[in-house]
Amino acid sequence: MSSYRAMLCVVAALVLSCTSTSAFVAPTAARAATAVNQRSSAVSRSAVNSRQTQRRTSALCMEGQAAYLDDPMLVPLEDDDYVAFGLACCFVMNDNLKLDEYYVYEPLTAATLETIASSQSLETSYKRVTAFHAKDIFEGPPARPTGIQVDKLKILDGDVTAHICENPVERTLAAARTYKRRVEAQMCGYGDLLEGFNFSTERKRILNHKFEPSFDDNVKQDKSIDVYGREEEEAKQIADLENM
Ligand SMILES: *[C@@H]1O[C@H](CO)[C@@H](O)[C@H](O)[C@H]1NC(C)=O
Repeated sequence: MSSYRAMLCVVAALVLSCTSTSAFVAPTAARAATAVNQRSSAVSRSAVNSRQTQRRTSALCMEGQAAYLDDPMLVPLEDDDYVAFGLACCFVMNDNLKLDEYYVYEPLTAATLETIASSQSLETSYKRVTAFHAKDIFEGPPARPTGIQVDKLKILDGDVTAHICENPVERTLAAARTYKRRVEAQMCGYGDLLEGFNFSTERKRILNHKFEPSFDDNVKQDKSIDVYGREEEEAKQIADLENM
């Protein structure tokens, strides 16, 4: 029960942070993100179009980028921490306003991996999943990573070409932290390939399309937070939200 509440907290954080394309910020990372946002809004308030301001802005942005590493509330990752990556089938809109498939490598949170790996009845945009020790997938030490070793993710490719997701370092740090709190969600062995999920692109994840929740969406989301104890429905709602 409490674990489902924890998952719903993740969902709530997701709903609140979902003002742009497939943005995922885990609750722990949200604090860092808020700090960044506060800084950047301070920047926009004072913005006048002078070169000096531009210089100041870029200095603040750089400072902001490191904020998620310097947040004293976040315990640094260790070399052997677990993190799973998936190959997701997303879409981008081309110049003719048609949707093209666009495969993305992205870290999976504990809630996502647990949901898609434990129930075939839930549809997902993930084709394949693998898992790493943090030290094997980050560039630089996991406590202060500088990038992602994208080559290592090619194990997920199959017959498609894929691209690393946006903000991969930040998202991987946030995702890895979710497994610290939920070790039983580590359902893919290190270096294993998990596939055969209930793959579907019926609900398309469109990457260059700004997500603006409609009134109906907001009503649905309110309902989704009001279903404690109805595990199957919760899991479905979580999957639906994560499939956005
Ligand atoms: C996949 O998920 C859909 C929607 O929940 C369900 O209707 C379908 O039966 C599932 N497919 C399999 C093979 O379980």
